[in-house]
Amino acid sequence: MKMLSHTYGRGWKRGVLLLRICLLFSIGKPAFAQIRYGVPEEVREGTTVGNVAKDLGLEVALLSDRRFRVVSGSNQALFEVNRDTGDLFVRQKIDREELCQGSGACIIDLKILVENPLEMHYVIVEIADVNDHSPSFPEKEQEFEIFEQTSTGSRFQLHSARDPDAGSNSVRNYMLTPNDHFELDIRQGDDDKIPILVLKKALDREKRVSHSLSITAFDGGKPPRSGELNISIIVLDSNDNPPKFSQEIYEIEVQENIPFGTLIYKLNATDPDEGINSEIEYTFGKTLKKNAYEIFELDKTTGEIKVKRVLNYEENNVYKLDIEATDKGTPPLKGVCRVNIKIKDINDNPPEIEITSVSDTVPEDSKPGTVISLLSVTDKDSGLNGKIILRVTSDVPFELKTSYKENVYSVVTKSVLDREQKSEYQIVISATDCGVPPLSNSKVINIRICDVNDNSPDFFQNPFFFYLSENNVAGMSIFSVSATDKDENKNAAISYRIVKEGSKKDVLSFLHVNTDTGEISALKSFDFESLKTFQFQVVATDSGTPPLSSNVTVYVFILDQNDNAPVILEELC
Ligand SMILES: *[C@@H]1O[C@H](CO)[C@@H](O)[C@H](O)[C@H]1NC(C)=O
Ligand SMILES: *[C@@H]1O[C@H](CO)[C@@H](O)[C@H](O)[C@H]1NC(C)=O
Ligand SMILES: *[C@@H]1O[C@H](CO)[C@@H](O)[C@H](O)[C@H]1NC(C)=O
Repeated sequence: MKMLSHTYGRGWKRGVLLLRICLLFSIGKPAFAQIRYGVPEEVREGTTVGNVAKDLGLEVALLSDRRFRVVSGSNQALFEVNRDTGDLFVRQKIDREELCQGSGACIIDLKILVENPLEMHYVIVEIADVNDHSPSFPEKEQEFEIFEQTSTGSRFQLHSARDPDAGSNSVRNYMLTPNDHFELDIRQGDDDKIPILVLKKALDREKRVSHSLSITAFDGGKPPRSGELNISIIVLDSNDNPPKFSQEIYEIEVQENIPFGTLIYKLNATDPDEGINSEIEYTFGKTLKKNAYEIFELDKTTGEIKVKRVLNYEENNVYKLDIEATDKGTPPLKGVCRVNIKIKDINDNPPEIEITSVSDTVPEDSKPGTVISLLSVTDKDSGLNGKIILRVTSDVPFELKTSYKENVYSVVTKSVLDREQKSEYQIVISATDCGVPPLSNSKVINIRICDVNDNSPDFFQNPFFFYLSENNVAGMSIFSVSATDKDENKNAAISYRIVKEGSKKDVLSFLHVNTDTGEISALKSFDFESLKTFQFQVVATDSGTPPLSSNVTVYVFILDQNDNAPVILEELC
């Protein structure tokens, strides 16, 4: 660098030197000349710029006497001459950028003076640029806030780098760190290059909230120097994500009869956006059945579902709730889910017994197995709480039979009935479910056994002996026979009649029986001397269908009012 500059400086200098000397002398002014040198900036103190004495044709030996010196105002401090050698040398470090603005040639005018005779020479020193500055940015970091939905191709102007060096030593190029989203475009300005960041692939805040890039500016020096600018990109949120529930369908089981206000589930939807774009409000869907609003309560901020009314399995055992989660972005976005709430049965209903038919009277001659009642048993609960055990009181001649149809039972006779022994029964039917604790219910069937004519009239005594004194008054009642019947009503309504069977006499001609009472009257007055004894039968018949009857044999003995009756008895026996 220094070498090149020096060589170039000298070659160019000679041509000018000759030209200037000719020009100046021809005007006829005092003898002076102009010489031009080149020296790079930043060279060491004492570095020789050129031998002025030789170039001006001055005799070196006389320089001291002629007080050879530099007389150039402020620039005087930069250079000095050596009176022993005639060299112009650098007195202190030169900074080109301090002396000159811009990238044009940096020229220092020096006046060299010798006396005896007085001569003034003009010397020009051109300070050549050295690449002693790196490109630099006005700030260390540049920050951009970019909405995630910004379209690709959008441009963001970056700071330009400055480099006070001249020409190729100033900023020549920019490079961006490799990345997925941005590329660099360089616009040529009036006197510099302007770097522009171009979005080439859309941003997604939910994937990455910020990007750190850096751009490096290079100058054209050899080797080049560089400067760096960090670029920080904050991705701003757009409402581009709807709230999302962790599941599409939630299956929840809840016991019936839980207390009001019980929290049964807490929904949780999430929204990866930011701020109000991720603030969620929960609401019931519009398609919900009306009664679901009355039964369940949804907290719009927490997503908690509570019961606000009694849940009754028997009324409804499943509810389907559509729930929406809406964010507060503009416009808002929405996510939906379905919550299926199954109501679990608890044993809160005892079995119910319904007597669908019953015969309140049962004939006593019914055969075992005769159906006397049909009943159905139901339980509103489910599972084991439905399952029913049915019983009937054990001390009755009845039992339960299952039927062809589920839950329908029949009560049938178990053994022979006898109204005369027991005419009424209370049958207690109890149903118990298998829940914990078990619940039960019972029903009573009252059965009356109705009479069948299965008993004959029955006389107290048979045979019946009767003693009657002779000379009785004709037409008077002499005695009565009586029979009873265990049956009832018609089956026990008895009528009496006399039959002459087993009798030698025509008793019907002198005896009469009251058919209703069994009272027997003698139609004539008896005479012991002509009739001592006679016998007959009285038949008692009930009014059943068919009627039943029985008879009694009556022995009548006429007593002599003067004789002893025992004689007659002995004779008879
Ligand atoms: C740019 O960031 C990197 C990494 O954070 C850091 O090392 C470097 O010094 C930064 N550059 C500037 C110019 O601040
Ligand atoms: C919702 O779920 C997310 C992710 O599982 C969790 O980070 C957050 O704390 C939950 N919010 C609530 C209110 O439960
Ligand atoms: C009276 O009863 C006996 C024994 O039951 C029977 O054999 C007889 O035929 C009956 N007499 C009449 C008249 O019914």
